[in-house]
Amino acid sequence: MAVDVKVICCIGAGYVGGPTMAVIADKCPHIEVNVVDLNKNRIDLWNNSDLSKLPIFEPGLKEVIKRCRGRNLHFSSLIEENIKRADMIFISVNTPIKTKGIGAGKASDLKWVEASARQISKFAKKETIVVEKSTLPVRTADTIQQILKESELNNKNKKFSVLSNPEFLAEGNAIKDLENPDRVLIGGVDEESINALKKIYLNWVDEEKILTTNLWSSELSKLVANAFLAQRISSINSISALCETTGADIKEVSLAIGMDSRLGSKFLAAGPGFGGSCFKKDILNLVYISEYYGLKEVASYWEQVVAINSWQNKRISKIILAKLFGTLAKKKIGILGFSFKANTNDTRESPAIRICKDLIEEGGSLYIYDPRVSLEQIESDLGLKNNYQGNLTGDLGNWSYCKKIIDTFEGADAVLVLTEWDQFKDLNWENLSKLMRHPSWVFDTRGIVDTVEAKSCGLNVWQVGNGE
Ligand code: UDX
Ligand code: ADP
Repeated sequence: MAVDVKVICCIGAGYVGGPTMAVIADKCPHIEVNVVDLNKNRIDLWNNSDLSKLPIFEPGLKEVIKRCRGRNLHFSSLIEENIKRADMIFISVNTPIKTKGIGAGKASDLKWVEASARQISKFAKKETIVVEKSTLPVRTADTIQQILKESELNNKNKKFSVLSNPEFLAEGNAIKDLENPDRVLIGGVDEESINALKKIYLNWVDEEKILTTNLWSSELSKLVANAFLAQRISSINSISALCETTGADIKEVSLAIGMDSRLGSKFLAAGPGFGGSCFKKDILNLVYISEYYGLKEVASYWEQVVAINSWQNKRISKIILAKLFGTLAKKKIGILGFSFKANTNDTRESPAIRICKDLIEEGGSLYIYDPRVSLEQIESDLGLKNNYQGNLTGDLGNWSYCKKIIDTFEGADAVLVLTEWDQFKDLNWENLSKLMRHPSWVFDTRGIVDTVEAKSCGLNVWQVGNGE
């Protein structure tokens, strides 16, 4: 299908659609890029003149939006009009795990993808290239193709070609990843459509980095890439526990094994467990697909990666409870960081959610600070209202939102570092220690605290993979 792409539409203005389209618009000023979303509030935030109000936080995003918004990048709720005008449509909607029915807890819920395909099928009027951007289970393109085929039969002017072009960006590093990707993967059948998409990327990506495959390899590669990355984290987290009991130091072990060029040094930082919208979902998807095809052993192999992750969350709550004499009632615990990692406001599957819920369940009073996560988001994740700093009297756990780091330390029995934000790396332990109730603890699940210094200020310190 020979399409000269002048107008792009992206369905879904989320963590993937927003930054990806912003970078395409930035690098291709000759192409008009329209991002649409059902969520009117989200679109309004993308259009807010105050760039600090953008719905997602990504380093460098503000600058790109400032350059392109209103020039060739537009955010809109007008789905029909923008689909109609587009030569190429990206599907970038959410695909969470199904909560009920067949495959509940493992399979992806494809209702938003299907709805997008139906919108395209209804509103598109001409030859259109449809690109799967969301991470999808292998063979989803089949579903999209079937829906689009119907409308091709009913209207001769309509023609569709479906491509898979998974996004490998990591949140918190999205703009850099998009501007300088390790590779761009394009799966498809129709040569001309593949070339049309390739031409867009060639505006800033070297040709050797653009890999073209069949549709199914492209869809599966995204799941497998995430599964392998997550597997490294579960592996290193399992070893962190072994280090704590044997006297080995996880950072030294990571450094030593990472220097083996076959292993490489990235993704070997032990932590509270991986979070984010992709890893757990994609592995469970792989598990579901393997089960579906009767590959029981393959399914249980990958399931273990998720099991170790939950175990690591739990292990941390248990350690805190044990060090604080087995009870958290009437104790104040400062929480540093709530997002699933640094440099993002995303809390999806954040280890902080499970760990904080455990500590509240034990009766602790949590004082939570995160540089980018809002009070409302934490309330929704914990399913519990913020009580504005008060109740240290009963046995019922509770939590309070802190606007400043220092508020988490005031009178605290312990502080818990859950996210590796830069501002937690050089805390003034001497001053902060004086604010706490002693004996007091620092629990560092990210390995970023200078333990020697903190200990010299009269604090007890526990660090992941290092112990006390
Ligand atoms: C991931 C993939 O990296 C990306 O390629 C894919 O497109 C989407 O999923 P993301 O979830 O945004 O990206 O973040 P990532 O940086 O991969 O971190 C995932 C989780 O692993 C975080 O909770 C992070 O804290 C944790 N992690 C990462 C570790 O605990 N240790 C590490 O060494 C690296
Ligand atoms: P991701 O991390 O994959 O980008 P998000 O949840 O951040 O996921 O974003 C997905 C966006 O897609 C949401 O803002 C949601 O409102 C939007 N969306 C879902 N279905 C549709 C649809 N049929 N039409 C338009 N937008 C949609």
